[in-house]
Amino acid sequence: MRKKIVAANWKMNLTLAQGEQLVNDILAAGIKLPEGQEVVIAPPFPYLLKVKQLIRNYPGIYLAAQNCASEKSGAYTGEVSAEMLRSVDVDYVILGHSERREYFSETNAQLAKKIDQALANGLKPIFCCGEPLEVRKAETQNAYVAKQLEESLYHLDAAALKNIVIAYEPIWAIGTGLTASAAQAQDMHAFIRSSIADKYGREAALGLSILYGGSAKPSNARELFACADVDGGLIGGASLVAADFTAIAQSF
Ligand code: PGA
Repeated sequence: MRKKIVAANWKMNLTLAQGEQLVNDILAAGIKLPEGQEVVIAPPFPYLLKVKQLIRNYPGIYLAAQNCASEKSGAYTGEVSAEMLRSVDVDYVILGHSERREYFSETNAQLAKKIDQALANGLKPIFCCGEPLEVRKAETQNAYVAKQLEESLYHLDAAALKNIVIAYEPIWAIGTGLTASAAQAQDMHAFIRSSIADKYGREAALGLSILYGGSAKPSNARELFACADVDGGLIGGASLVAADFTAIAQSF
């Protein structure tokens, strides 16, 4: 079923104490989550267990990791496998964030392997895609995003695709204060959904949640989430402020 999702991507921010405080403030705000709406929190690895404990009794609030390894197990110092994440009750994993692609040279092919590891271990990938500014200026963003989807997701069968969430994050909008307009977001989300429909059929496309990410904040979330093909958001900076994040989560 197509869900509405607002996910918090803390990135490499906050100490454990600050993270606990943030989660407790969000829980204390008493976000109302109607049937079919979820909140997802993606803290850094060392805080996953703690955050899971804090959210355990809150239906509709789920835990995500920000990355996982492309290999199953073994001599990969510093890596964290999908199986390890599942063993500490992680629900989702963000894969293919543009910061991972840019600073850690993650390729579409490597991301396909991470997607497979995540799915094999019962994690739901939040697969990030999105174009850099020069691609947007050249108006070739659809082809750029289509290639990301093809090379990292389109080896999956229809049953596996049901566990995927897509986050469209135009790189020029991430952490820059520049948000895609609602029309730009809607155009790309509709394009992504039609690409999924071409490959997997209309029903699969209609069931897919597609989130927007890139300088989403309380002042623009309502307009973005009102778009027909925008099913929520992946929130960076504003997810570090409890009042902002809870306001965004209630912007449907
Ligand atoms: P931002 O980040 O909300 O700070 O732009 C979004 C993201 O990178 O997921």
